[in-house]
Amino acid sequence: MDKNNILLTGFMGTGKTTISHELHRITKMEEIDLDAYIVEKMNCSINDIFEKQGETFFRNLETDCLKEILKKKNIILSCGGGTVLRTKNVDLMRQNGKIVLLTAEPQTIYDRVRNHTERPLLNQNMNVEYIAELLEKRKNAYFEAADMIICTDGRNTADICQEILMKIEKIFGKI
Ligand code: S3P
Repeated sequence: MDKNNILLTGFMGTGKTTISHELHRITKMEEIDLDAYIVEKMNCSINDIFEKQGETFFRNLETDCLKEILKKKNIILSCGGGTVLRTKNVDLMRQNGKIVLLTAEPQTIYDRVRNHTERPLLNQNMNVEYIAELLEKRKNAYFEAADMIICTDGRNTADICQEILMKIEKIFGKI
């Protein structure tokens, strides 16, 4: 068990990858991206996995990879936007790290993801209304899992990372 891991969660487009890079730069902790880990393991894009094998297959893969990755210590893990939707993933995450939830308004999320095509759940539904609807459905799962909640709307990366590191220190002690 290693509570030293920093586990970044939040809806697509809340900035998990960007924040992970900056936290890595500041702390020098190893950085892993759950989606990238899956893509490398399967040698297949997330779009292709969803299209060819379906979402349930992807979710099972996500749980297996999460288990594998969390054997490591002292890492920053950027989870997928749907990782906390499974209770067993959240249990595993709770046992192995600090769960940092990044939030953003639907309009902010839309502005950040609108030109990207690698998110199968949004590819056919790229609009603010759909994002707001899906966010609302997932809200409880995100908030219940979180050890801390960090708003990212209108803020720069440095400012967000400073808040995360300050809160981690306050709640859990020095990294
Ligand atoms: C998903 C989010 C994606 C990826 C997959 C499903 C989701 O990750 O895991 O497309 O269900 O919210 P990002 O949040 O990194 O885009």
